[in-house]
Amino acid sequence: MSDMPQGDSLLRVQNLNKRFGGLHAVKNVTLDVGHGEIVGILGPNGAGKTTLFNLLTGFIPSDEGEVIFNGHSLRGLKPHKIVNLGMARTFQLCRPFVGLSVIENVLVGSLGPRVHDADLGARALHLLDQVGLAAKADTPSELLSYGDLRRLEIARALATDPLLLLLDEPFAGLGSAEIEAISALIRQLHRDTGLTILLIEHKLREFMQLVSRVVALDFGEVIAQGTPEAIVSHPRVIEAYIGRQAVGEDA
Ligand SMILES: Nc1ncnc2c1ncn2[C@@H]1O[C@H](COP(=O)(O)OP(=O)(O)OP(=O)(O)O)[C@@H](O)[C@H]1O
Ligand SMILES: [Mg+2]
Repeated sequence: MSDMPQGDSLLRVQNLNKRFGGLHAVKNVTLDVGHGEIVGILGPNGAGKTTLFNLLTGFIPSDEGEVIFNGHSLRGLKPHKIVNLGMARTFQLCRPFVGLSVIENVLVGSLGPRVHDADLGARALHLLDQVGLAAKADTPSELLSYGDLRRLEIARALATDPLLLLLDEPFAGLGSAEIEAISALIRQLHRDTGLTILLIEHKLREFMQLVSRVVALDFGEVIAQGTPEAIVSHPRVIEAYIGRQAVGEDA
């Protein structure tokens, strides 16, 4: 593959495959994400959503296929190299650096080559302000509530100055008020910065309100792509996902 940007896509995934022994966890996945889009990845438990994120971010190697990010092939690249190209993620289970304060967690994220600000402290505070955590800058990260940990994860990812932010179930484990707040935060971030976002989520109502396009997976395969409206009435999605839980119900 050439290193030239491909059309308007920030991310191009072509025929990506990952097997764990006999389990084909990601199967011939092909998808594109355009600059500035919020694209949702939908699918039942075990569909391969997190594995797809792990492949994109270099946490695990793919068996076959190609990922082109901002014109660069990611083949064989380690996670930190991919972060340096401008892809950042949050985890399904929050992983703060225990023993570090909230602002120190964010500062760690800003140590890469993408960040040139002279005053990293001021930058980190600004990021904490953006996610609503400025007042807790000096709090030890292990004392944060689950909702605040989600905010910290997002600030830490933003600290790397990403072009693409991957969010793996940002509402997992949160009550409805916090879900509403984090959802508003993601929407605001997108509005303010034009950041491109790829979002995995099971909370369908908030998910469908946030994303402009959905890629639906089942058993590792893309079964449908389209607008949220088209996806919720797509026969294969209803069969694979919505049929196993009432629409709007949380997994
Ligand atoms: N490192 C691994 N080794 C073996 N099997 C794995 C590994 N990681 C994931 N799997 C399996 O691959 C399949 C896809 O898992 P994955 O975590 O990607 O699903 P998911 O769509 O993110 O599900 P959930 O909605 O529950 O988070 C599952 O059957 C899972 O057990
Ligand atoms: Mg997952």
